[in-house]
Amino acid sequence: MATTTTPEVKPAETTKKAPISLTASAIAKVKETMAQQNPVPTGLRVGVVDKITPKQTSNGTAYAKLDLKLETEEALVGGAAYEAHGHPLPEATLKLAKDADAVLFGAVGDWKYDKLERALRPEQAILGLRKNLQLFANLRPAICYEQLTHASSLKPELVAGLDILIIRELTGGVYFGEPRGIWDMNDGTRRAVDTQVYTTGEVQRIARVAFDLARLRSNKVASAEKSNVMHTGVLWRQEVTKLHEAEYRDVELTHILADNCAMQLMRRPKQFDVIVTDNLFGDVLSDEAAQATGSLGMLPSASLGKKNERSGNQPGLYEPVHGTAPDIAGQGLANPIACILSLAMCLRYSFGRVDDAKLIERAVEAVLNEGLRTGDIMQPGKKQVGTREMGDAIIAALDG
Ligand code: IPM
Ligand code: MG
Repeated sequence: MATTTTPEVKPAETTKKAPISLTASAIAKVKETMAQQNPVPTGLRVGVVDKITPKQTSNGTAYAKLDLKLETEEALVGGAAYEAHGHPLPEATLKLAKDADAVLFGAVGDWKYDKLERALRPEQAILGLRKNLQLFANLRPAICYEQLTHASSLKPELVAGLDILIIRELTGGVYFGEPRGIWDMNDGTRRAVDTQVYTTGEVQRIARVAFDLARLRSNKVASAEKSNVMHTGVLWRQEVTKLHEAEYRDVELTHILADNCAMQLMRRPKQFDVIVTDNLFGDVLSDEAAQATGSLGMLPSASLGKKNERSGNQPGLYEPVHGTAPDIAGQGLANPIACILSLAMCLRYSFGRVDDAKLIERAVEAVLNEGLRTGDIMQPGKKQVGTREMGDAIIAALDG
């Protein structure tokens, strides 16, 4: 990635939760069961899923148990890659990710890298992968698990049953717009510039993803922008409206200003189903929605690219919504569920293995119903467990 286009990234205080090595150890366990002797994506690595060989049950359609063969290859990204190779996204890692059918991503970020020049900071790994794989559509579900309503900072009745899908445009907007930089003004002052830019094509393709997915859910899309202030917001609203009128009249569309959207997410989150928005607003609103669920350690995400018309392949990268948690790294405390559910999302979107995705999701629910909790979602009367125990329990539920 050219250093001139490296976006400003948020400091590490926004990165929290799972120490990835531990998260990975749990998913490793799941994969042991699923894939037997295959290698496992671990640590700050890109785990690459090349091929899946299904083993069907006698009726030939459903999968009674998870029985997958995943061919995986691993590569370092982020801080670990910087330590080993001097760059957060080494060429070899990028190539592996490009050649793969899907990428499982841990998380990046550690305060200890804050002093590095921006191009070498861990966050550049994920930004570089998004840009290079052209992963323009970021799907961030915000689901409040029935068993976890207490963990939200909102009242239980506001969040019980909450199931929102935020669709964030991921390769455009102010994250990548040019010009960008900080300039000395030769008078002792400096000037910083970031550029928010969208083209009609970029807006249309993300709006299309939102409308298509809404049709599989409650047929409702809220499109969030700042058309009262920003030209990109005006263009965004016009293009979404145009596409809606031309092709998606059956879907209920509302336009909402992004600041109001943030407020409404706190006030009455269940009014939303699919929210589509730009890169920066999506970054903020998806964190807000995730926190509203109280289930941040539980939430997976998918970043999808354009389908290759010839091969039918669609690049996909799957990662927990949460970041790293340098403060608790190595202690066995992290919640591995978002990571495990990211694999479920991978099976659903990259491999069309919806039944297998559901098996993993049900195993997670079963373990929650048994009363097991990691520290982040603990409540009185439940059993607090560490990362490994939680992973083992999910495997047992998959087997059961
Ligand atoms: C996210 C993160 C990233 C972003 C950082 C790590 C660059 O906050 O995926 O939401 O700002 O997009
Ligand atoms: Mg973010």
